[in-house]
Amino acid sequence: MKIKLFLIALLFCSIRSDAQKFEGLALTPPIGWNSWNTFQVNISDELVRGIADKIVSSGMKDAGYTYLVLDDGWMAMERDSVTGNLVPDPKKFPNGMKVLVDYVHSKGLKFGLYNCAGTKTCAGYPGTRGYEYQDARYYASLGIDYLKFDWCNTDGINAIEAYTTMSKALKAAGHPIVFSLCEWGTNKPWLWAENVGELWRSTGDISAIFDGYLDHGTWKQQGVMPIVDLQIGLRKFAGPGHWNDPDMLEVGNGMTANEDKTHFSMWCMLAAPLIAGNDLRKMSRETESILTNKEVIAVNQDKLGIEGFKYIDKDSLEEWVKPLANDNWAVCFLNRSQAPVQVNFNWKEEIINDTLFKKTLNANTQTYKIRNLWSHSMQGDTQKPFVAMLPSHDVIVVRLSK
Ligand code: GLA
Repeated sequence: MKIKLFLIALLFCSIRSDAQKFEGLALTPPIGWNSWNTFQVNISDELVRGIADKIVSSGMKDAGYTYLVLDDGWMAMERDSVTGNLVPDPKKFPNGMKVLVDYVHSKGLKFGLYNCAGTKTCAGYPGTRGYEYQDARYYASLGIDYLKFDWCNTDGINAIEAYTTMSKALKAAGHPIVFSLCEWGTNKPWLWAENVGELWRSTGDISAIFDGYLDHGTWKQQGVMPIVDLQIGLRKFAGPGHWNDPDMLEVGNGMTANEDKTHFSMWCMLAAPLIAGNDLRKMSRETESILTNKEVIAVNQDKLGIEGFKYIDKDSLEEWVKPLANDNWAVCFLNRSQAPVQVNFNWKEEIINDTLFKKTLNANTQTYKIRNLWSHSMQGDTQKPFVAMLPSHDVIVVRLSK
C-alpha cells in the first residue's frame, strides 16, 4: 500500500514543473491585440505604430486593452552570426525593435513578442531551442512585457521541460514578462503550467468560422463553437494568474455581427484572454462597439477570475453562468441553431450550484436585478421568469446583482 502511494506521489511530482514564475502578473485575463490572425508574417514598424495609435483613439485602451503582441515573422531568417542574438527583420523593422517597444510604451500600452520552443518557429524563423537564457536576456534588454511561446519543430522535446526552462530563463533575466504557452493543449498544460506561465493555449488554432472547422489536410483550424466545447472540464485549472487560453479573437474577421458578439461574449464568460486579431485601423463601427463593450469586458475581467460553466444545453439553446465578485452572476443564453429560439427561464425554479467554486444562485432567497449587457438596460428582476426571443447564433448576456 505504502509503495503504491509512493508511486502515485512520484507520478504526480513528475508531471509538475519546478518553475517559479514572476508573482502577480495577469491577475485578470490578458487583454490586447496580436498580429497573427490578420497579418500572419506581413508585419512592420508602420503597422505596429498604426495599431498602437488605434488602440488609443478607438477607446480600446480605455476599455482595458493593454498588450500589443507581434506574432511570428518579426525576425530575420538567421541569428546574428557573431553574438547568436535574435535579429528583427531589417526590412520590416528598419529602426530595430527597441524604438518600437518604446513607442508602444509611450502610448501607455505594453509590448509582446513571439518565439517557439522548437528549433524553428511555425513559419520557419529561428526558434529558441538551446538559446533560452540568451533570448530571455534579449527580451529583457528590449523591455518587453509578454512572450508568446509556440510549439512547432519540437520533435523529441519534452513540453514540461522546454516551457519550464524558458520560464526559468525569463525569471533569471529579471524583467517581468507574461509568459503565454502556446502548445495547443497537446500535453495538457492545465495539469502542469500553473507555475510556469500566466496562460496556456487549451486548443488548436482558431478560424473565423462560427461552427465547424477549416481542413488543411495535416491540421485543422477550429471554429468558435467547437473551441467552446473543448473548454468543458478545464475551468477548475484556471484562476488569477493562470488562464486557459482558447486562442485569440476573430471578431471583425468575417463572421456576422451576431456571431462576433457571441464569440466575444463566450470568451468573456470563459475568463479567456481577450486578444483581438483584426485590423483595428479599418474596423467597422459595429466591430469597434463589440470589442469595446465595457460591461461585457467587466465579466471577463472580474477579479474573482472564475471561469463560467454550461448550466443548460437543450435543443441548441445553452445557458452559461459565471460567478462574479460581490455575489453577482453573469448569465449568457446562447442560441447555436440556424433559427431564432424563445428563451424562457424561471429563476425561481432553478437553483444553480457551482460546486467547484462553492457559489449558489438561488432566486428564492435573494432577488437579483437583471441588467442586459448588450442593450445596456435594466430588464426587471429574478422574481419573474426571463422571456426573450434570441436570434440565430446570437446571445443575451445579463448581469445579476443584488
Ligand atoms: C501557431 C500558433 C498561432 C500562430 C502561428 C504562427 O499556429 O498556434 O497562434 O502563432 O503558429 O506561426
